[in-house]
Amino acid sequence: MEFYRSHVLVCGGTPCVLEGCKGVRDALVAEVQRRGLEREVKVVETGCLGPCDLGPVIVVYPEGTLYQKVRVSDVPDIVEEHLLKGRVVARLVGEAPQAGVVKYEEPKYLGVQERIVLRNCGVIDPESIEEYIARDGYRALARCLTEMKPADVIEAVKKSGLVGRGGAAFPTGLKWSFTAKAGADQKYILCNADEGEPGTFKDRLILEGDPHSILEGMAIAGYAVGADKGFVYVRGEYVLSIERLGKAIEQARALGLLGQNVFGTGFSFDVEIRKGAGAYVCGEETALIESIEGKRGEPRVKPPYPGTEGLFGKPTVVNNVETLANIPPILLNGPEWFRRVGTERCPGTKVFTLTGDIKNKGLIEVPMGITLRRVVFEIGGGIPGGRGFKMAQTGGTSGGCLPKELLDVPMDYFTLPEHGSALGSGALLIMDDSHCIVDIARCFMEFFKHESCGKCTPCREGTARLYEIVDKIARGDGQPGDLELLEELGAAMQATSLCGLGQSAPVPIKTMLKYFRDEFHAHVHERLCPTGTCGI
Ligand SMILES: Cc1cc2nc3c(=O)[nH]c(=O)nc-3n(C[C@H](O)[C@H](O)[C@H](O)COP(=O)(O)O)c2cc1C
Ligand code: SF4
Ligand code: FES
Repeated sequence: MEFYRSHVLVCGGTPCVLEGCKGVRDALVAEVQRRGLEREVKVVETGCLGPCDLGPVIVVYPEGTLYQKVRVSDVPDIVEEHLLKGRVVARLVGEAPQAGVVKYEEPKYLGVQERIVLRNCGVIDPESIEEYIARDGYRALARCLTEMKPADVIEAVKKSGLVGRGGAAFPTGLKWSFTAKAGADQKYILCNADEGEPGTFKDRLILEGDPHSILEGMAIAGYAVGADKGFVYVRGEYVLSIERLGKAIEQARALGLLGQNVFGTGFSFDVEIRKGAGAYVCGEETALIESIEGKRGEPRVKPPYPGTEGLFGKPTVVNNVETLANIPPILLNGPEWFRRVGTERCPGTKVFTLTGDIKNKGLIEVPMGITLRRVVFEIGGGIPGGRGFKMAQTGGTSGGCLPKELLDVPMDYFTLPEHGSALGSGALLIMDDSHCIVDIARCFMEFFKHESCGKCTPCREGTARLYEIVDKIARGDGQPGDLELLEELGAAMQATSLCGLGQSAPVPIKTMLKYFRDEFHAHVHERLCPTGTCGI
């Protein structure tokens, strides 16, 4: 095995690709060669490192020095100063330059993070199965197949307390047990990588950064429930995710880790990719199943649930990307290890995408139950431009809004709903006090109006009416009684819509009316937008 004195990790996640990381990587490889350092320094393209808005981002190990907004023209300096002379290139290390000689320093924003799901993202080359294996990859699958019965695997997942990270927070072990018990000649494992929620891109970056962990998680699920076939339903726009996943499937097949007779145990499992059909509702599990079957992606009436009657009418497990990425470490390290992080009711970590009016945007993984305050101010670095925190939209458009009074509420799947919000898929959109709440509500309602599939009346009509009323208020034409009408309509939609889209469309409005009613009131009764955004 080659030994290198330095590893230069170049982030190859989509946000960094858009900023030109490929050119930086090529320039680094060329410069390292030009200086004759190729036997001492290895340049590796990885998945997302985390601070996506600082891209292109590179980290030099063993020191852990993070360089941000690196341009091709910076490369000679990095090689000359850091790799040859051992001095940090201070102008590329951010707000607090670590001048002088290089030393290991954990980037500050990583401090309170806990990486289970992202254990390999930004660490290994996602296109190298050897690097995944070197980090214990496929060991959990081997252990399951050779040391555990399927029922033991399900029991371990149940004991871990893992709940689905796709938004509904259904206990994963329990879900698997329904499919395991269902008698059928064919069963399926589906990985839901549709990720249509605005502001959410965690599944994309997990797939780009560590595709083998998803394949391993799916194979373990297949063994546990008795399925030999899996599909990953990936959002069509996720070109890099699809490309890396495709390579990973080929590599795993070539090593006998997917396909017939895995590890020589008689267990068979294979995976295919299906590209998403482009609608938000296709992420709903039964619409996703319809879409894979080649039909229009519309939700089915439930029950029956996919666990017993899913793809082509066969028992089917549908799990989110992040849920599946948790499976190999749980099986490798045990449920108790997993439960050491997070809360009693909601163990483990949560991956969030941090966006909006916040200094450090990007991908983070933190213990479940962390407060919004710690995320915004410790990891996110606070609100830029000297403005105040107004609210956080948790869980994307389908989640609710948390005002500054709730900055200390623990964020997990059970506590946020007690305050009218939801953790959802993990989008965290932070807004400063320059934003108007009615304007934000209008934007969200426009999204739901557009995305409603139209199959059921409460959602088809309700999303259009919600938008109409909020738009009217924003234009200064609100009438007394409009706020009560929004609430009444929202309650009817939540009670009667066929799927989660119509049931959750009123959630942001409800929380906005609960926590920012004065602002809505000012628009309706005083024809005044307190922030001056709506132009009334
Ligand atoms: C409109 C709508 C969109 C959804 N989109 C996604 C999605 O993109 N990814 C996802 O994992 N779950 C999505 N879900 C939730 C899925 O229906 C399902 O609960 C989830 O994939 C189950 O996986 P889990 O148990 O691992 O969370 C969506 C639900 C609704 C109602
Ligand atoms: S709730 Fe909306 S998205 Fe869901 S089935 Fe009804 S119309 Fe379609
Ligand atoms: S994509 Fe490069 S840091 Fe996230």
